[in-house]
Amino acid sequence: MDRGSRILGLGTYVPERIVTNDDLAEILDTSDEWIRKRTGISERRWVEGDVGPAELAEPAARQAVAAAGLELSDIQLILFATLSPDLFFPGSACLLQDRLGLNGCAAMDIRNQCTGFLYGLATADAFIRAGLYEHVLVVGSEVHSSGLDMSDRGRDVTVIFGDGAGAAVVGPSTEGDRRILGHSLHADGALVDILKLVAPASSMNPRLTAEMMEQGLHYPYMEGRAVFKQAVQLLPGLIRGILTQHGLDLDQLDLLVPHQANLRINEMVARALGLGPDKVINNIQRLGNTTAASIPIALHEAVEGGRVKPGDLVCLAGLGAGMTWGASLIRW
Ligand SMILES: CC(C)(COP(=O)(O)OP(=O)(O)OC[C@H]1O[C@@H](n2cnc3c(N)ncnc32)[C@H](O)[C@@H]1OP(=O)(O)O)[C@@H](O)C(=O)NCCC(=O)NCCS
Repeated sequence: MDRGSRILGLGTYVPERIVTNDDLAEILDTSDEWIRKRTGISERRWVEGDVGPAELAEPAARQAVAAAGLELSDIQLILFATLSPDLFFPGSACLLQDRLGLNGCAAMDIRNQCTGFLYGLATADAFIRAGLYEHVLVVGSEVHSSGLDMSDRGRDVTVIFGDGAGAAVVGPSTEGDRRILGHSLHADGALVDILKLVAPASSMNPRLTAEMMEQGLHYPYMEGRAVFKQAVQLLPGLIRGILTQHGLDLDQLDLLVPHQANLRINEMVARALGLGPDKVINNIQRLGNTTAASIPIALHEAVEGGRVKPGDLVCLAGLGAGMTWGASLIRW
């Protein structure tokens, strides 16, 4: 068997501050009933003050390295997936690297939104299979709350996003079959306009004006129904496809860890695949949509909660802005 890789340890960090739907209803024209019915979300975590995704990621990264039984100095590459980078440049991977005291190792940002962690995992897997690195830290971390429209105009987007960080240490697989089996990564740039943040942008001169801010172009824009439709149309075929690619079928799948964008999306995908609630993990009710962080956080919860055992077949899958979508299949 050729050299493979596996997830050796996971970590999570979410801010302490809980923001309930009722809290949001005090500042926006919304209600607990509307948010729960349309999205499944009851509450989310938001940072307080000036906290960026690199700061959120630090405890998650340290936890993942410890869970892997490694020292921080064993990490040779940091891959940081985020759509809410601390700065326009340099990347959050460099900021996290400095926080961890790993100055000198390779560090790179991944800008693939809700699919970012999966693109990161696939990149880590490829580097390890190729023999370039032994241990790669893959992080998904987001601070949405400082960039949401807190007026009624932005209520569709504002109620769904939460802040949080998830991290995984990926290293060589030394235990037979226990390895990442493969990935199925996709993008369709023709769908850029259904979910985006327009300003500031280097394609505009100037990049940001008072008029743009008045129009709310510095807040995320989302055509919710179009995104919803893409997710329920693409994800079942994606999951079936990656299983088939590896000579496996749905009956053999032990757990689906979907991106947490909307509980209704995940329920529809599960129904389309004939997967019962015991085969799918959802935590959006408590955390909202944490974009690149959602899959590693949900996976970590599944492992901690005993829902993933050695040898289990686990599928991670998600879709988000770009559009980008993807899945990874793991023999745990
Ligand atoms: C955002 C989302 C929950 C909206 O639900 P929806 O059923 O599509 O609702 P619509 O956008 O059609 O809006 C329905 C009504 O609710 C209103 N509404 C929107 N947000 C609201 C809110 N937070 N509270 C109360 N009402 C709201 C709309 O203004 C609209 O009112 P109208 O009928 O008077 O025009 C849903 O489309 C969704 O989750 N899409 C996928 C989003 C996603 O996955 N994004 C992240 C990708 S990673």
